[in-house]
Amino acid sequence: MAKRYPRRLSAGANNVVIALSTTEVGKLFSDDTRSDIGSEATKLKFANQVNDLCARFIRLDINEDLNEDMLVMERLYPMEFRAYEDQIRLLWLDVFEDELKALHDSGFVHRDLCRPSGTPGLKYDNIILTQTGLRLIDVGISVLKSDVSERMFKRFIEREWEEFEIFKKDFLAR
Ligand SMILES: Nc1ncnc2c1ncn2[C@@H]1O[C@H](COP(=O)(O)OP(=O)(O)O)[C@@H](O)[C@H]1O
Ligand SMILES: [Mg+2]
Repeated sequence: MAKRYPRRLSAGANNVVIALSTTEVGKLFSDDTRSDIGSEATKLKFANQVNDLCARFIRLDINEDLNEDMLVMERLYPMEFRAYEDQIRLLWLDVFEDELKALHDSGFVHRDLCRPSGTPGLKYDNIILTQTGLRLIDVGISVLKSDVSERMFKRFIEREWEEFEIFKKDFLAR
């Protein structure tokens, strides 16, 4: 069982995320966390330069109370998609698709739109519906084109669109 903190918002497969204020959250990277805070910050900043699809990076910091490193970013407030009619959901999906394509064209692939079955958590934990539309968090396993071969990047993009289609179906189904 993961450690609990009073300001804990949520936890994904690897990291605990705590609320810092009404506008900021901190993703904690303890020593035993396998993910790397530096590379996550680099990838997030890369994506932020392209568009607003991914949550905004704010700073890397130390949480003195918890004695852990943290990646501070914009705090998103998830909404329930079932509260919104089809026509607005289609609009959000259109924008999402365009922004995802722009990220791909710039050399960034998210790679974690939907969680493989069998892993803990909800299937689409990393896609957050907000008042301004769909946003992405968690670039932990994202990849920059400059770090991999052409073939590998192309394969990741293909898989991303497959995951996008699965998400789209579910987003409109209920
Ligand atoms: N910017 C954010 N605003 C609000 N909640 C967030 C934010 N980033 C992460 N979270 C919450 O914390 C959880 C874990 O964060 P995530 O980056 O997905 O970590 P992991 O790599 O462990 O999956 C998310 O599923 C989400 O509920
Ligand atoms: Mg996650």
